[in-house]
Amino acid sequence: MEDIRLQMKIYLAPLEGITGYIFRNAYNGIYGSADKFFAPFISPSEKCPLTPRERKDLIPENNSGINLVPQILTRKSEYFIEAARELHTMGYGEVNLNLGCPSGTVCAKGKGAAFLTDTPELQSFLDDIYSYAATEDMKISIKTRLGYYNPDEFYDLMDIFNDYPVSELIIHPRIRSDFYKGDPRKAHFAYALEHSKNPLVYNGNIFAVKDYDDLTKQFNISLDPVMTGRGLISDPSLADKLKGIASETDFEKFRRLHDTLYHEYQKVMSPDINVLFKMRELWSYWQVLFDGKERDIKRLLKAKRYAEYEEIVYQIILSP
Ligand SMILES: Cc1cc2nc3c(=O)[nH]c(=O)nc-3n(C[C@H](O)[C@H](O)[C@H](O)COP(=O)(O)O)c2cc1C
Repeated sequence: MEDIRLQMKIYLAPLEGITGYIFRNAYNGIYGSADKFFAPFISPSEKCPLTPRERKDLIPENNSGINLVPQILTRKSEYFIEAARELHTMGYGEVNLNLGCPSGTVCAKGKGAAFLTDTPELQSFLDDIYSYAATEDMKISIKTRLGYYNPDEFYDLMDIFNDYPVSELIIHPRIRSDFYKGDPRKAHFAYALEHSKNPLVYNGNIFAVKDYDDLTKQFNISLDPVMTGRGLISDPSLADKLKGIASETDFEKFRRLHDTLYHEYQKVMSPDINVLFKMRELWSYWQVLFDGKERDIKRLLKAKRYAEYEEIVYQIILSP
């Protein structure tokens, strides 16, 4: 059992604004327990397959030693293919298609989860991108929701995905209006386990080993690989725990992760307040690790200067 756990593959979900190259490098250097990282989406346009900022996040120099899959969000196959070509020349052998983003601005343009509503156009898009993939030896994985309005849209979508060589079908078993809330719709994932011709990856609400164990019981199978996002950000020891390398959160490693992020963000961002905004976003996840320190964390979230932030972080929260 322990050995099986050690070998299981854990994927870090893309979290826009959080899992950029600075986070990926810090996490990978200190913990090293994620087997694959998915970069937050790029959104190619007619003139520009990648913005300078997206390129900086994806260039191999900024991702050394990291098994990274770039993600593309678009409903135009020519933009997808152009971006994939560019990524191929940068050395990438796999790209991921985003069919799950629930955000209002994205869905208003018919992209992300909204693309799931237009199945004829989705099929013609998939025809194009998988023809391209065959010519360039590029793998294309898909990260999808169950549907837009109704989870039962998934039955037709499953048939569609089965027509293509999807390198991995990552399913976040929610619909668009669920956003990231409520219980994932596990019965629909069970349907996928039975009917998918493509390799599956489960994603959603794995915050602790118990959540993974419950999935194992429910599906009667040890899911491998699995993808976790908020769970691994909230407790960066989660992948170590899932693999059986750690049983407790390692606070020494946590402090190193904190310090690395804090210093690396200072190198690329200014003024103070912008770095503190970034740290604030991370603390909104990390606070679950610090039971009983709610009042201090509230003060921390209000800090406007490094000195104020450091006083609270190092004297109260991360003191040895
Ligand atoms: C702040 C935030 C940003 C996200 N950005 C992306 C993204 O760029 N691409 C994507 O496919 N999913 C994105 N997601 C969804 C996550 O990858 C993941 O599917 C979701 O959080 C559910 O998994 P979890 O319960 O393990 O966090 C984002 C989620 C959050 C909360």
